[in-house]
Amino acid sequence: MNWVSKMFSSSLGKKYIMSLTGLFLCSFLVIHMVGNLQLFYNDSGLAFNKYAVFMTTNPLIKTTSYLLYATILFHAFKGIFLAYKNNKARPVKYAVYKGSSNSHWTSRNMGILGTILLVFIVVHMSDFWYEYKFGHIPYTRYVTDLQTGDLVSVEQMPEEFVMKSKMEESIDGFNKITIVKNLYLEVSEEFKEWYLVLLYVISMFAVSFHLYHGFKSAFQSLGLNHKKYNNLIQFIGVWVFSVAIPAGFAAMPIYFFFK
Ligand code: HEM
Repeated sequence: MNWVSKMFSSSLGKKYIMSLTGLFLCSFLVIHMVGNLQLFYNDSGLAFNKYAVFMTTNPLIKTTSYLLYATILFHAFKGIFLAYKNNKARPVKYAVYKGSSNSHWTSRNMGILGTILLVFIVVHMSDFWYEYKFGHIPYTRYVTDLQTGDLVSVEQMPEEFVMKSKMEESIDGFNKITIVKNLYLEVSEEFKEWYLVLLYVISMFAVSFHLYHGFKSAFQSLGLNHKKYNNLIQFIGVWVFSVAIPAGFAAMPIYFFFK
C-alpha cells in the first residue's frame, strides 16, 4: 500500500485530510467574508460587482475555485461517512453517555452541523453562483467622476441587453463608464424574501457551531497544538470563526431585508 492509499484508509490519515480540507475551507470563508463586506458600501453595488468579475475571471482564482468545489464535496461526504461510521461503531453509546461531562455537544454533532451546511451551500450556490455563471443577470451602467471618484449616475440596462464579457470600462471626458453584470441587485432582491433570510441566519448558527469545534480540533488532529499557541488557536476559533465570521455573514441578509 503506498502512502496515498494509507493516508485515505488509516483513521489518522482520514483525520489529517478532514483537518487540512477544513482549514482550507476556513481560509475561503475569510476571503469570501472580506469580499462580501463590499455589499455594505454605499455605491449601488459598483465595488461588489467589479469584485465578482475579478473573482470569476482571474485565472489563478478560477483554478483555486475548482479546488474549492472539490474540497467542499470531499470534506462534506467524507465527514458524513465518518460520522455515520462512528455512530454505528458505538451501538451502546447511550449506556455510557455522560452528556456534557464527556465532550462539548458541537463535537458530537459535527456530522449533523456539516450536513446542514452542505444543504445551505447547495441552496446558496444555486441562488448566486449558478445564476451568475449560467443564468441571466442584467447589466447596469455606472458613471463615475474620474477626479473625485464620486458616482455621477447609475442606470439599469434593458433586460435584453447583453455583452460578450461580464464588464466593460471606458473613459468619456472626465468620467469613467462601467457596464457590469449587477450581481449586487440579485443579492439585494433575494434577501427581500423573509424565508431566505431565515435560512441564512439559521445556517450561520450551524457555521458557528461547526467551526467552534472544528477549527481548534483541526490543529489538534494535525499535531499542531502546543502549550504556547493553544490559547491563540482557541481565541481565533471562538472569536473569529464562531462569532465574527458567522455574525458578519448573517448581517448581510438582515441588512438587505431591512434596507
Ligand atoms: C450570508 C452571506 C453570503 C453572501 C451574501 C454570499 C454571496 C455569494 C455570492 C454573490 C456568490 C457568487 C459570486 C461568485 O461566484 O464569486 C457566492 C459564492 C459562493 N459562496 Fe457565498 N455568500 C454568503 C455566505 C456564504 C457562506 C457562509 C458560505 C459557506 C459556508 C458560502 C459559500 C460560497 C461558495 C462555496 C461560493 C462559490 C465560490 C466560487 O465560485 O469560487 N457563502 N456567495
